[in-house]
Amino acid sequence: MKLEGKVAIVTGGARGNGLAIARCLAEEGADIAIADICEDMKTLPYKLSTPEIMAEAVEGIRGMGRQALGVKCDVRKASDVSAMVDQVLKTFGRIDILINNAGNTSMVAIAEMAEEVWDEVVDTHLKGMYQCCHFVLPHMIGQHSGKVVSISSVGGQRGFGMGGHYCAAKHGIIGLNKSIAMEVADHNINANVVCPGTVWTPMMKGIAESFGMGDEDGKEQFFAGHLLKDRELTPEDIGRAVLWLCTEDSQNITGNVITVDQGWTAQAP
Ligand SMILES: NC(=O)c1ccc[n+]([C@@H]2O[C@H](COP(=O)([O-])OP(=O)(O)OC[C@H]3O[C@@H](n4cnc5c(N)ncnc54)[C@H](O)[C@@H]3O)[C@@H](O)[C@H]2O)c1
Repeated sequence: MKLEGKVAIVTGGARGNGLAIARCLAEEGADIAIADICEDMKTLPYKLSTPEIMAEAVEGIRGMGRQALGVKCDVRKASDVSAMVDQVLKTFGRIDILINNAGNTSMVAIAEMAEEVWDEVVDTHLKGMYQCCHFVLPHMIGQHSGKVVSISSVGGQRGFGMGGHYCAAKHGIIGLNKSIAMEVADHNINANVVCPGTVWTPMMKGIAESFGMGDEDGKEQFFAGHLLKDRELTPEDIGRAVLWLCTEDSQNITGNVITVDQGWTAQAP
């Protein structure tokens, strides 16, 4: 196993891509801390995870023979992130891997977007990544090793109408990651980004439903750009790319981006 003895924090790990990432890391031996808000936000058109969903995710990882911890944590808040990192260190004694995955979105044109709509999305993705790196990197620097993987999106490489806040934050994640990679390279820490295409998680289902679309028409709309169509892009596809960036197989890659999008961005203008 490639991650035996390692401890990973996965933000937004209660479900969707985050849970698949957590399970991929656990399969390779890592113990897992899931940090998830587990409550809804005012302006999102769908529900976020609940304490019950997080408890089920934690139990599932324990069922794989790993240690697992669930911490209720809003990555936008310094006090939550600081307390979460303290709890992880108290429980496991170290942090080797940080996955900045917590995310959300709504779809609103900028001309109609209230400040709170912008803040809930941009702060989760971008301020959340800053907060988690701010509190975790000192420990990684102290142990002279670590892996940080942040989840951006195809929306970090192109625009989506009605997704200005999401695309701004996802582009920002790629820029922030490059700066972090420069700052921590001397401390043997790799920092990389994974950009998923559309994955049919509760976030995408929720967005589709808010436009009155069911699974079938939602998928038709949101998978339209993907070139490879024989199989659907899954959370496990994202998990496997993240896993690779957390192993020594990718030890000389940093400040970089892996796009897992079935070819979508290959044809983008
Ligand atoms: N699903 C897709 O098509 C897709 C595509 C590209 C990128 N992504 C990215 O993948 C990541 C995971 O998204 P998903 O599709 O699995 O969505 P999801 O809604 O299924 O899961 C996101 C998780 O993050 C948690 N969360 C939301 N805001 C939070 C906050 N402020 N603090 C802590 N936890 C918070 C939610 O409770 C939920 O458990 C996000 O960063 C998203 O932008 C998803």
